[in-house]
Amino acid sequence: MKMWSGRFRQPLDPEFERWQRSLPFDRRLVNEEVAASSAHARALQRIGVLSDNELASILHGLEAIQSAAQKPEYFNDEEAEDIHHFVEKRLVELIGEAGYKLHSGRSRNEQIATDLRLYIRKTIDELQVLLLELLDVVVARAEKSGNSAMPAYTHLQAAEPVLVAHWLLAYAEMLLRDFTRLADCRQRLNFSPLGSGAIAGAPLALNREAIAQELAFTAPAANSMDATSDRDFAIEFAQVLSLLFMHLSRWAEEFILFSSQEYSFVRLPESYSTGSSAMPQKKNPDALELIRSKAARMLGNAVSLLVTLKGLPLAYNKDLQETQEPVFLAAETAAQSLKTAIGFMRQVEFDYERMQRAAQAGFMNALAAATYLVNKGVSFRKAHEHIGNAVCYCLEKGCELRDLSLPELRQFSPEFAEDFYSCLGLDAVLACHNVTGGTHPARVREALAKVRQQISLLSGEVHAHA
Ligand code: ARG
Repeated sequence: MKMWSGRFRQPLDPEFERWQRSLPFDRRLVNEEVAASSAHARALQRIGVLSDNELASILHGLEAIQSAAQKPEYFNDEEAEDIHHFVEKRLVELIGEAGYKLHSGRSRNEQIATDLRLYIRKTIDELQVLLLELLDVVVARAEKSGNSAMPAYTHLQAAEPVLVAHWLLAYAEMLLRDFTRLADCRQRLNFSPLGSGAIAGAPLALNREAIAQELAFTAPAANSMDATSDRDFAIEFAQVLSLLFMHLSRWAEEFILFSSQEYSFVRLPESYSTGSSAMPQKKNPDALELIRSKAARMLGNAVSLLVTLKGLPLAYNKDLQETQEPVFLAAETAAQSLKTAIGFMRQVEFDYERMQRAAQAGFMNALAAATYLVNKGVSFRKAHEHIGNAVCYCLEKGCELRDLSLPELRQFSPEFAEDFYSCLGLDAVLACHNVTGGTHPARVREALAKVRQQISLLSGEVHAHA
């Protein structure tokens, strides 16, 4: 029987009926539905709508439903409209008529709003654990790389050498921001819609504060119309994840690039690569390519949520049912992709020698060379010009700045002296970036320690979950 059959005399068109059901996807919310329903049942008992016995059998029934629901076959029900209807039906089968009393003073509008918040809250907790694990691997790889250097690029043209650790720490910074964005999102979503009723507030005098507390919400949501129609938290969650995936896709792209034969800075782990059915020599970076492309879906989820909400009149509209799937997709894709990124990052091999060699060619010391002249009192504009001319000269000769003799150098500027050569070496070039956030090895060690400290601080913030 439908939850609303009294008002209807005609059956639904069978195809429409199947099409409008959400059980095929909102069954994922069964744990949240049981938790929220249990809290509601307790509130009903407190105001005398349920007797102690009824409460006990409802709670018992809900528990039984939750454990049975761990088996996918349990959801073989062609009639239940959604997870709310499904749980009610099972409850009535288990405990009889008392099961129908559970819906007193509540509406599915507040239930779905609550279930989704609980689901996203739990997912954030899980994703934060994964993010910390990824951060830990990234930082461990950075620590292990010691003082190895590599070229850094702007415009994808060789720019200046940096420590490999410095490069990896750039990703750590992005991931740390993603972590705190998830934390912000969690904090903002953590208000309880329960007791909002269908739109105007529950028609029974429920203690909303007690319900909120029981479900570990900060407080009841302030306005019943807002609470039953708000999906900001779902949009925000999807947006935070699209930002995370924008980062992951940049990370993936760099590793794809650096694993190409031309760079060969990294060797792909076979466990995260595939071969070609046609070209026998190939080892392709499929794991990275999939992470890069999942970013598109993640952005799509955020956009589709935003557009679904745009222009909706208050309060609940069935359009809101369409906000579920993008949330599930985002949550599941994020967890799987993070696990893949963690595994890949653990196993990828760095060719430090090759990176180091690449960092010493291609005039990546030109800025340091210009700075040498600045330290001799030359204006930077002039110094830039002199070194630019010297680079052109080298390009014609087919050599590097260090290969020019002092007389050759003095054609460009009389300030060049014997000590010039000592500022051109890789160590000197790295060391001249001795500022907070720079690639001087001591600064990078400082940064590593700081990130380690942040990671351990954030580990304490992750919420424990079942
Ligand atoms: N399955 C519905 C959803 O996800 C639950 C709320 C239904 N409410 C209603 N008034 N039809 O949005």
